[in-house]
This record gives sequence, C-alpha cells and structure tokens, in this order.
Amino acid sequence: MAKDSQRAIREAVDATDEAAEITPQHAGDPALDLRCFLERAQNAGELQVIEGADWNLEIGALTEIFAELETTPALLFDKIPGYAGGYRVLSNILKSPLRESLALGLRPGLRGVELARGVKERLNSLNPMAPVDIKEGPILENVLDGDDVNLFKFPTPKWHELDGGRYIGTFNAVVCKDPDSGYVNVGTYRVQIHDEKTVGVNMIAGKHGDLIGRKYWEKGEECPFLIVCGMPPSLMMATGLGLPWATSEYDFLGGFLGRPVPITKAGITGLPMRHHPRSCLKALHRRLRRNRVLKDLSVNGRVIMRRARNKRRSSKCGGSITVMTRLSRGRRRSKPI
Ligand SMILES: Cc1cc2nc3c(=O)[nH]c(=O)nc-3n(C[C@H](O)[C@H](O)[C@H](O)COP(=O)(O)O)c2cc1C
Repeated sequence: MAKDSQRAIREAVDATDEAAEITPQHAGDPALDLRCFLERAQNAGELQVIEGADWNLEIGALTEIFAELETTPALLFDKIPGYAGGYRVLSNILKSPLRESLALGLRPGLRGVELARGVKERLNSLNPMAPVDIKEGPILENVLDGDDVNLFKFPTPKWHELDGGRYIGTFNAVVCKDPDSGYVNVGTYRVQIHDEKTVGVNMIAGKHGDLIGRKYWEKGEECPFLIVCGMPPSLMMATGLGLPWATSEYDFLGGFLGRPVPITKAGITGLPMRHHPRSCLKALHRRLRRNRVLKDLSVNGRVIMRRARNKRRSSKCGGSITVMTRLSRGRRRSKPI
C-alpha cells in the first residue's frame, strides 16, 4: 500500500477514540483487510490451500464437500488450470467461530452464546459512523482498461452444475447511490459473467439497488454501479443484512466495528469503493432505445465504452435475470437459477 494512504488511514483512525482503542490501523485489521484475515486464519490452521482444481465445477464441488465437514477450513484455490498462479479463489470464508469473530471485529475465540452476546452488545450501542475517504489505495494499483478488459482473465468458477454460467459475484458488494438523497447503498447481489465485457446483476425487485436503479432508468438515465469482489469479510455482515432504506451499510459497519470503513472515491462513477478489495468492476447502464442498451464497463478504476447488444443477444446467456433484460422489459429467456 502507498505510504500516503497508510498514513491517511492511521490519521483517520487515530481521530476516532473508539477505533484507536481497538486497532492502530486498518491495514492490520482482519475485519477490514482480507489479506490480514487470511493470515490470521492460516496462523490458526484454518486455511487450506488447494492447487490444481478446475474452475468448471471442481472448485464448487470441493467447496460443498468441505462445507459438510465438522470443522471447515477456508479454502484458497490457487494454480487453477489455465490461469497463472496467484489468480486465486477463496471460499467457505466464514464457516468457523474464529473466522466469524475475526470478521466481526470481536475477540477471537468467542463461540456460541458468547459470540452472539458479543454481537448483541455491539448492536445495542451502535452509532453509525461515516466512512473515511482515502484518496488513493491498493484498489487503484491494477487497472484494466479498454481492450484489456476481459472478465475471463479471472478464474471465476461455475459453482453448480445447473448454474447458467460463471458467477464472479457471490460474496460481493454492489454499490450505488440514491440520486435524490445521495445515500449510498451497498448490497450483495449475485453477478454472472455473460461475456468478456458483460456481467448480469441479479437484483430482486424491491431490493435497494433495484429501487435506486429504477430512479435512473425511469428518467432514461444511466445508473452507475460498482461491483466489489474479494471484499473483506466484515462487509458481508452488513451487505447481506437487509438494513433499512437510507442507512448506508458503510456507516452501519463503521458503527458496528467502532472505526470508519476506509473507502476510495474514484473513477467514472465516483462511487465509494472499499479501499482494500481485490477487484472491482464498474458498470453504467442506460436504456437508449427500445431494445438497445449502452453499457460502460471497466475493471479496477477506469471505464471503457462498449456499445451494447440487442435484447435477443443479451438474454440468450441464461442463468440469472440480468440488469439488461430488466432494462429492456422484454420477455426473459434466461433460465431461472
Ligand atoms: C451470499 C448472498 C447472496 C445473495 N444473493 C442475492 C442475489 O443474487 N440477489 C438479491 O437480490 N439478493 C441477494 N442476497 C440478499 C441480499 O444481499 C439482501 O437481501 C440484502 O439485504 C440486499 O441489500 P439491500 O437491502 O440494500 O437491497 C444475497 C445475500 C447473501 C448473503
């Protein structure tokens, strides 16, 4: 991480009394830094590295098999056939009391009732805390742009036999901003790769991301979305929770952990990205004409333009109900997952 951004994090955290008590800096914080979380899991013997498993169903099957065990390690798949070492997939992230307490920022080793009590106490005294904006961060270090954008560069698994394709967003966060109030919503909605530059986001009607999207689309405007993959585990605790409208998950998580979540506002969407995530996709969707969609997409920061596809092509991918099919309001050909 750049020295400036480390210093900025430290200053922001030091400015927060509660945070200073808990941890001197986010970079060494397993709740907010995935690498640190993995290190702690590994030191406790709770991380299993598996090399050579194929993205096509093998990673999914091994994940299921390990999840059935009485004690389940987190699984880190590496050297996935067809991909360079270091392009890794992590699964079974929170399946132990130790990893849950690390993710929740609670004392490691809490179990059962004690763990639940720890969560309850935090919730009882929770005051939402705004995230801290770090001007630069690791998220901006690797940017794929223009012709280099190719989602298949990542070893995204096809998890289950009947899935319609490869899901890059499962333990993820989709960020968007309410155009009226400016409230930032962060929700977990699954994301499927449709082709090298196109993803579909499965937002169930009525979810906050869907409500925000509609505000743009009904005016014929594009809605910026930011998709965070490989996020720190604490974020999932907030993004899958169903918080009330206008309560930002970033603020809730900051309040829960007692320290502000570091974010970086950058790129074309200007949406706040988590500071440490391993990868981030950005997309803008706009209904242009009846069955045409303009889709801008970038990876890790910058945007590339891609004039889209018609309804017929976008819907043949199957698997999930996509933003594109939703936009077109056409008949859905996608198979339900
Ligand atoms: C692992 C996981 C996957 C999820 N996948 C989806 C999904 O594909 N679509 C969806 O609408 N909700 C999904 N959810 C549920 C939403 O994350 C949850 O309802 C959340 O509250 C939505 O955020 P919102 O209330 O801000 O809309 C998922 C939750 C989890 C924990």
